[in-house]
Amino acid sequence: MLLQVPCVLDSEQVAHCRELLATAEWVDGSATAGSQSAQVKNNRQLPEQSPVAQRLQQIVLDALLRHALFYAAALPKKIFPPLFNCYSGSSNFFGSHADNAMRTHVATGYRVRSDLSATLFLSAPGEYDGGELVIEDTFGEQRVKLPAGDLILYPSSSIHRVEPVTRGARIASFMWLESMVRDNAQRRLLFELDMAIMDLRQQQGDSDTSIRLTNTYHNLLRMWADS
Ligand code: NI
Repeated sequence: MLLQVPCVLDSEQVAHCRELLATAEWVDGSATAGSQSAQVKNNRQLPEQSPVAQRLQQIVLDALLRHALFYAAALPKKIFPPLFNCYSGSSNFFGSHADNAMRTHVATGYRVRSDLSATLFLSAPGEYDGGELVIEDTFGEQRVKLPAGDLILYPSSSIHRVEPVTRGARIASFMWLESMVRDNAQRRLLFELDMAIMDLRQQQGDSDTSIRLTNTYHNLLRMWADS
């Protein structure tokens, strides 16, 4: 399931992140790539441990964990500290690749199984040409380019790429996360049930039916989640 999560950051927060990023020093993005993806990766990234990256990571993580739709869809257990990248000039694409299943944070040894990948757009679509995130889904290729502050959540098991940026700069944050519910189909079912219960409660208020469905949701989560 691909899900667009709107307004993870509001325009003020995006502007603040962009100010911080304007002061940052970018390095070759191949530092965090596996051996296959390093061959097709041509972009720049913030060094993971730089003070600017750490401040930005905190802003993004705080925003994500407060976002109800993101939480309902991802059911996050662990989030790898978000990384930041820039596609522009001659460092302007990332060819088709698979994301590594396991990610170890070098400084802390913190290990995350990548069930879900996410890209948070920090440049507005009008600031650059190209730069679409292309995800090979079971329904075919999905081409994604979102407003600044919006995020796309997709299964890490999908092959994906970033098209060449031919004008301007595409700045984004990206991250991997391990979900409490490992299986994509189970997680999707829980998300759809959760959304249906919310609709029902909005239309009718709490009722015996919404309480029984909520109970079923939590019993499924109990069956499938690990903490
Ligand atoms: Ni990737």
